[in-house]
Amino acid sequence: MTSILVLNGPNLNLLGTREPAVYGAATLADVRTLCEETGARLGLSIDFRQSNHEGALVDALHEARERHAGVVLNAGAYTHTSVALRDAITAIGLPVVEVHLSNIHAREPFRHHSHIAPVALGMICGFGPRSYALAIEALGAHLAG
Ligand code: DQA
Repeated sequence: MTSILVLNGPNLNLLGTREPAVYGAATLADVRTLCEETGARLGLSIDFRQSNHEGALVDALHEARERHAGVVLNAGAYTHTSVALRDAITAIGLPVVEVHLSNIHAREPFRHHSHIAPVALGMICGFGPRSYALAIEALGAHLAG
């Protein structure tokens, strides 16, 4: 079965209690369930992970090269700061779909720039947890050719 890594960055472990007006009431466990249900519907195996540490996210991307066909990545605030994550994406050569719960372009100017977007297959933002389901569908279709 085709396997996809869904990788979450800093502070996303606090979903549900973190700024609910921005990020909604769903917890990361709820997002995980949605991803697993979407994967099951499409015949994709989902490896769902989260870390608050930039280096651990780089390591997870490196490991994905051996284990997964593609990645759905919500890099959180590292989206806007991390050249290391961008370099890891180009280094592994896997298709990566960038996701965000919120519409980063409708928020503060510092969130408008993404280091990930130029090296991603595509980017989906603004649909809450549904951003993840849409990203898995898009990545699955891309992998199916
Ligand atoms: C986020 C948007 C980022 O700007 C922010 O730093 C996050 C969450 C989102 O999913 O909307 O941590 O990636």
